[in-house]
Amino acid sequence: MFDLERFIEDCRGALKDSTPHSAVKDVVERAMSRPGEVERAVGTPESAGLHTIYHAPDLTILNLVWAPCMSLYPHDHRMWAVIGLYGGREDNVFFRRSKDGLVSAGERQLEARDTVLLGKTVIHSVTNPWKQFTGAIHVYGGDFFGTPRSEWDPETLVERPYDVERVKQTFAEANERFRREAATALGPQDH
Ligand SMILES: [Fe+2]
Repeated sequence: MFDLERFIEDCRGALKDSTPHSAVKDVVERAMSRPGEVERAVGTPESAGLHTIYHAPDLTILNLVWAPCMSLYPHDHRMWAVIGLYGGREDNVFFRRSKDGLVSAGERQLEARDTVLLGKTVIHSVTNPWKQFTGAIHVYGGDFFGTPRSEWDPETLVERPYDVERVKQTFAEANERFRREAATALGPQDH
């Protein structure tokens, strides 16, 4: 049975490995092989959000819930990251810096049970293309909230300092849009 406390302990233990990112990927892979159990442990997604499961200087574990059809602009992490999905779909588009600015460098679609390891220099944007919530566990090899890094304006692709408050605002706006669209789909209520 998947247990969050045990998962945190296993990730912490994996940090002692000679290749911690690979060891953490194994831990996340094992967890995602039972997506229903992970969903029971973190709760069935009902609104988009970035929920902190664990946060320390050398390890951050987040539960990311993406609203239907929401996107997050390109950003980097400056630390390795392991992403695992327990529901829905997460489309990752990768970028690299060039003399002409940011250019695309491939993509990877993740669905439930999939896990991917992102290197320290990876720049990616994320989209949930489905009309249902996507649930993911993201494990970072460092302090996700305290490490200065970059994000790129989604329209101009101009680089700017990463702002976690702007990320939270993006999730809040996605929830607002989801609630509005759900209300419209429901139509006028009888009284
Ligand atoms: Fe990311």
